[in-house]
Amino acid sequence: MQQKSRSISTNQVGVHQNLHKVVSRQLASVSQKPLSEHTQQAFQQAINWLGDWQGELILDSCCGVGESTVNIAQAHPNARVIGIDKSALRTDKHQAYANTLENYLVLRADLKDFLRLLVIHQKKLSKHYLLYPNPYPKSAHLQRRWYACSALKDILSLGGTLEVRSNWQLYIQEFSAALCIANISNQFSEFASDKAITPFERKYWQSGQSSWQLLADL
Ligand SMILES: C[S@@+](CC[C@H](N)C(=O)[O-])C[C@H]1O[C@@H](n2cnc3c(N)ncnc32)[C@H](O)[C@@H]1O
Repeated sequence: MQQKSRSISTNQVGVHQNLHKVVSRQLASVSQKPLSEHTQQAFQQAINWLGDWQGELILDSCCGVGESTVNIAQAHPNARVIGIDKSALRTDKHQAYANTLENYLVLRADLKDFLRLLVIHQKKLSKHYLLYPNPYPKSAHLQRRWYACSALKDILSLGGTLEVRSNWQLYIQEFSAALCIANISNQFSEFASDKAITPFERKYWQSGQSSWQLLADL
């Protein structure tokens, strides 16, 4: 991916005025939405692949083409890593990034449903990566962001070390604030590294944009 990327433009002037209200409501509610058939099938594939695995389980949420999933699997050879993305267009491209490693799996699934299924099946994560999620920068789209939607509760239940990266500082600031509302301590800072581990990360850095990183032990 070589094209330049424009920096985020938003009509928000700071942390969203409804963040506290929305996050508190999400933490108190239970999703009743039916689970999609294709995600139930993908989840079954993950369960079959895991077999009786009792070791570390890492989730690479919104993994796109799965380049990060390979990088994470390489960095954690003793863990099993599952990359999830809803876009078949992206997961189908994984072949170009595929690796002979056997400790990872890239699946097309809706993340909200996949997270709920992991919780229902009492799975726990050792690490949870959420790298460059869609920012939904319009103020009116607050509830599309991961920390302000129904999935937040499941993200918290799954535990592990949560690592979120974004090129939008406010996204990370709001994520941090949402975790504080849930009484979870966390830290965030600007992030730089010699090596980009996802195509979006590479694209942002090549365009001169910075990354922000949030870390939390859930
Ligand atoms: C900006 S891209 C980042 C992809 C990758 N992490 C990277 O850094 O190259 C955001 C990704 O989130 C995925 N996504 C958005 N909503 C999703 C959902 N509900 N379930 C699964 N994936 C989702 C999109 O399909 C897209 O691939």
